[in-house]
Amino acid sequence: MDLESKRLELREVIWDDLENIHTLLSSPEVDEYNTLGIPKDIEATREIVRSMIEAQKEENRKSYSWKIIRKDSGEFIGMAGITLSANRFKLGEIYYEFLPSQWGKGFATEISKALIKSGFDDFHLHKVEAGVATENQRSVRVLEKSGMIREGLRRKILPIRGEWKDNYHYAIVEDDPRE
Ligand SMILES: CC(C)(COP(=O)(O)OP(=O)(O)OC[C@H]1O[C@@H](n2cnc3c(N)ncnc32)[C@H](O)[C@@H]1OP(=O)(O)O)[C@@H](O)C(=O)NCCC(=O)NCCS
Repeated sequence: MDLESKRLELREVIWDDLENIHTLLSSPEVDEYNTLGIPKDIEATREIVRSMIEAQKEENRKSYSWKIIRKDSGEFIGMAGITLSANRFKLGEIYYEFLPSQWGKGFATEISKALIKSGFDDFHLHKVEAGVATENQRSVRVLEKSGMIREGLRRKILPIRGEWKDNYHYAIVEDDPRE
């Protein structure tokens, strides 16, 4: 399943994406608020990619991961995804991450809006959610520009480089206002 926005394409991950994904996950700027940490080597990234590719074959699929490609240049610029809850809750949690060279161009907001739209239109969700470290002001801004509402603060739940960091919970319900 592939998606697109005005300037970007979201395509399912394939094995050929391994090196690009490893470069992305190895960036200290990208990792700053991430609980997974930088992969110790390409073999660790291979296991992450393996789980993304295995998920594509699951019957009652709960996890979608896409590479993000710029339409104008065909470049790989990041990753995004959605994880679905048990069917009865109709919830989906989104994420996105971009190479630092691509920050500040509105791409994350464009992708976040596309994921929210797909959550409601393609996955027929009731609510789309996202978690963000409270210090990750760029991503907080992206979620608010996407129409998400801050529903709560969870204190000291993110293990990031040996410290417990706070997390904001954001969400948008199917009948909330959207562009
Ligand atoms: C967070 C991230 C996705 C933002 O991507 P982006 O493409 O630069 O986002 P956008 O350009 O759509 O919007 C960024 C907004 O943050 C604002 N911003 C930039 N630096 C900022 C800062 N230091 N403090 C507060 N806001 C900031 C920008 O001005 C912009 O808002 P505006 O349109 O109102 O001016 C990107 O920095 C990233 O990949 N970070 C690493 C991974 C990550 O943290 N993912 C999110 C996990 S929840």
